[in-house]
Amino acid sequence: MRALTEAQLLAEGEELGRTLPPGALLVFEGDLGAGKTTFIRAIARGLGVETVTTSPTYALVHRYAGTRGPVFHLDCYRLRDPEEAADLDWESLLSEGDAVLIEWPERAGAWIPEPTMRFRLGHLDDPGRRSLEAF
Ligand SMILES: Nc1ncnc2c1ncn2[C@@H]1O[C@H](COP(=O)(O)OP(=O)(O)O)[C@@H](O)[C@H]1O
Ligand SMILES: [Mg+2]
Repeated sequence: MRALTEAQLLAEGEELGRTLPPGALLVFEGDLGAGKTTFIRAIARGLGVETVTTSPTYALVHRYAGTRGPVFHLDCYRLRDPEEAADLDWESLLSEGDAVLIEWPERAGAWIPEPTMRFRLGHLDDPGRRSLEAF
């Protein structure tokens, strides 16, 4: 477990994005405000995504244009039941995505295939730092 500032987390994410193999599936666990979206957007930037649109409404799937192909960012927070994830076109996401980055994977249950990497982020006593671990 490492304790990272936001700047460190962003740098780490970009570097990870630059080195990801095509088709990687990454999942991110952690409480609200732990930094999952922040980290994912940095990874997307490392994959060449220039515009990360912040939609005013909640979206389950965000599609960004990366250098090598689409980067999908899924936020499963609002799923009340894993069965709701059945409506997603998993086959297209996985075959077309240069990367698929998933927040709150536990809420989609078994719909999520075996990930390439798993991360957990967490709050610390220091409000400017977050814990980051790969597991
Ligand atoms: N070290 C840090 N790493 C990531 N975010 C941080 C850090 N310190 C403060 N923050 C702030 O915490 C919030 C994290 O929000 P977000 O990434 O949306 O979390 P999540 O997606 O896990 O709910 C942001 O407002 C960010 O500016
Ligand atoms: Mg989030």
